[in-house]
Amino acid sequence: MITSFKPPVFRLRFLRTMQRPVPICHLLNIAQKDNLPSKKDGFVRLLHFSDIHIGLSPSLRELLFTKRILGYLNHLIRRKHRIHVDFIQSLAQLLPQLQPDAVLCTGDLSSIGISAEFQTAEKLLQPFKKYNLIYVPGNHDRYVSDEKAFDTLHQTFRHCNPDGLQLDALPAIHVVKGVALILLNPACPVTYHLSCGILNTVMQHRVDELLEDIPEETPRAIACHFPPLMPNDTLAGWRHGLRGASFLAAKLKEGKVDAILSGHEHKPFLLKMPRGQLQLCAGSLTLEGSYTICDFPNQPCAAGLYPQS
Ligand SMILES: [Fe+2]
Ligand SMILES: [Fe+2]
Repeated sequence: MITSFKPPVFRLRFLRTMQRPVPICHLLNIAQKDNLPSKKDGFVRLLHFSDIHIGLSPSLRELLFTKRILGYLNHLIRRKHRIHVDFIQSLAQLLPQLQPDAVLCTGDLSSIGISAEFQTAEKLLQPFKKYNLIYVPGNHDRYVSDEKAFDTLHQTFRHCNPDGLQLDALPAIHVVKGVALILLNPACPVTYHLSCGILNTVMQHRVDELLEDIPEETPRAIACHFPPLMPNDTLAGWRHGLRGASFLAAKLKEGKVDAILSGHEHKPFLLKMPRGQLQLCAGSLTLEGSYTICDFPNQPCAAGLYPQS
């Protein structure tokens, strides 16, 4: 008797409707030295931290920007005495134990976006480079329209990312052992009473194109300084949040991405969607001592589609 079994069609349907396994994420604090999550076979590990906010004194030229004067005063009054730069070194000391496949920093290296802050941050991030450092800028890294500081940011971006990646090329995909990371840069200078980012329609269209290029079975996450969703599952606010947040939130809720990895909010949080997708905010490493570990189930990326790190 001949049956109507059609294996190729079945396989295609399976791939189209399959649900990718979601990453396993841990919110951690630098104060915890023991019982750190061990890395299991078959997982790709991302170490993720954010918002180190190096604060240094600006030169007279750099103080020509009103927003920078206010930002520097804010740093001196509210932040300077609370920043623990040594937490960066403490995290670096955990690298041999954590064994990450890549280290992601989701922005706000600086406090007022001056060149000296980027240069200092770059030196402090040096130990992470041999573990495949990846960096996307935050709003404090593009604080005002200072072209000299912008040039330094471009240089820091090149030095703190895989070879050949340029800031102007974002949104772009970088693949870490079969996990596709979409890197975004919605940070741009905004007026002094705002601290928002702008993911405009051109960037949104590009994200759609990049997502279409990723094979369905490939684990994928977005790295964006601004979390589109808050801990209570509402969209980020207009003044401090991301313009275009609803676009990214929809990608997460529809399962087009498995995780969005962010900073900006200095208190860390983890928000889980009903099907397991995650909005993860690492908080501030130097202010809160917080960082995260994301373990992605490894699945083979289509051979030759993307450069492997
Ligand atoms: Fe920040
Ligand atoms: Fe920020």
